[in-house]
Amino acid sequence: MDKYICELLQKWCPEQPEEILEVGCGAGYWLEYLLKIRKTIVVGVDISPDMLAVAERRFSGDPRVRLYEGDIRNMDFLENDRFDFTFCAWIFQYLVRVNFREGLRELKRVTKPGGVIMLTENIPHGDAQAFTFPTYVQEGPKATMHGQNLHIERERY
Ligand SMILES: C[S@@+](CC[C@H](N)C(=O)[O-])C[C@H]1O[C@@H](n2cnc3c(N)ncnc32)[C@H](O)[C@@H]1O
Repeated sequence: MDKYICELLQKWCPEQPEEILEVGCGAGYWLEYLLKIRKTIVVGVDISPDMLAVAERRFSGDPRVRLYEGDIRNMDFLENDRFDFTFCAWIFQYLVRVNFREGLRELKRVTKPGGVIMLTENIPHGDAQAFTFPTYVQEGPKATMHGQNLHIERERY
């Protein structure tokens, strides 16, 4: 699975992004990979201070890494239209019974127009059926998904 996600990150992350965001970054596993494949600044957000503490130790002062404690549904500490590439891995499953649309709205807000939002999930039930693993979400002016003005492109194993 990891190899597959790595290939997808290579494919979907723009070649020369100014900044990359991972929300629900946990201990920083994917941030570390993103740092390897792109010369850029990576920003990680997670709701769990414990997970962020592990990530802090992993990157120990690396100036290319910025970590924030926060909730995907309200990331008002991040500016509009900031990131070329926004990535989430296995976080929307936590939002199924809350409001995953608020999370999507925030991802869209902080991602540059023309940027890419990539989500990986495996939620076979409920309101999040759109997120069959893995799902890629890209900005698309004409496309819609649940009224979110997002274009969904899917690939599966
Ligand atoms: C299954 S872990 C995945 C971690 C990381 N993306 C990875 O693949 O290694 C899900 C992460 O989402 C975080 N999380 C859950 N709900 C969140 C929320 N509302 N906002 C931000 N992070 C959240 C959890 O603290 C956890 O670190």
